[in-house]
Amino acid sequence: MHAYTLIAPGKINLYLEIIGDRPDGYHELIMILQSIDLADRLTLRSNGLQKCRLSCSHPQVPLDETNLAYRAAVLMEQEFPKEFANYGGVDITIDKQIPVAAGLAGGSTDGAAVLVGLNLIWQLGLTQLELQNLAALLGSDLPFCVSGGTAIATGRGEKLDQINNLANLYLVLAKYDSIAVSTPWAYQTYRQQFSDSYINHLSGIEAKTHQVHAGPLVGAIVHKDGAKIGQLLHNDLEKVVLPAYPQVAQLRETMQQAGGLGTMMSGSGPTVFTLCESREQAAEIQQKIRQKLPDSDLQLWVAQLSNRGIQVETAS
Ligand code: C5P
Repeated sequence: MHAYTLIAPGKINLYLEIIGDRPDGYHELIMILQSIDLADRLTLRSNGLQKCRLSCSHPQVPLDETNLAYRAAVLMEQEFPKEFANYGGVDITIDKQIPVAAGLAGGSTDGAAVLVGLNLIWQLGLTQLELQNLAALLGSDLPFCVSGGTAIATGRGEKLDQINNLANLYLVLAKYDSIAVSTPWAYQTYRQQFSDSYINHLSGIEAKTHQVHAGPLVGAIVHKDGAKIGQLLHNDLEKVVLPAYPQVAQLRETMQQAGGLGTMMSGSGPTVFTLCESREQAAEIQQKIRQKLPDSDLQLWVAQLSNRGIQVETAS
């Protein structure tokens, strides 16, 4: 096979708790990550050259080493020089459907897709776990993007435990085009303001009584209890992002009032989502939000939760 087209789904966080800091500058997290069917489509085609080239349908997406798809190709060239020399490089084309700089792992899922695609084209035979170990070298969200579905993520976000899928739920996503939140800024600001509550900053007794709240949400997911899941959504980064971006806070408020099972910001934002029990409910809520916030800068999507990570669509 010389060309593969891959579907690369985005993700939301149903839960994000920051429990500690780490010597490497990252944070210890407990997250519940969920794939959505809003997805990019990547084509990888052998080009017969000794280099990989990148292009993207979205003009704002950089094509240099700041792009995780580019970095994934460079990593694979370095890790597998013999196969790279044998099979040659690929032209990578990204058809961008996931909003850019949105907190939906759009860049991470593209990087994960390049790892999966080159594994196939260079016939490396890497297992999903081996791909996830490579993915972790590129970013905290990439290992999840390889496998997708619904998962508890701990450590930096790279240690994964899969849970039952939730593909029967829907969501409305909303994002202001003009607002971008820096993820490092969000984590650093959280550290400045809330590090007193980190488990590794607490005394022995306090640390022992430290509560981890993800348990009830995992229970609700296992029982596929949409109403409970909606009530138990949690994201610590809202505590720093919402006060700094009042427009996002107002969007969240408006969405919450419009109904649905529950509303929250995804990752470090600025995308806000409302979980819904049906596509009809999601479409109704989308319309209500559009009426209340007719601002043309506001983008809205209806999506379905998905139980899949990177998938091969076509091979030729
Ligand atoms: O791993 P990734 O490059 O996606 O992370 C982006 C930024 O988010 C990091 O540079 C860091 O500032 C922050 N981060 C963190 N702790 C994590 C994950 C991300 O502080 N567990």
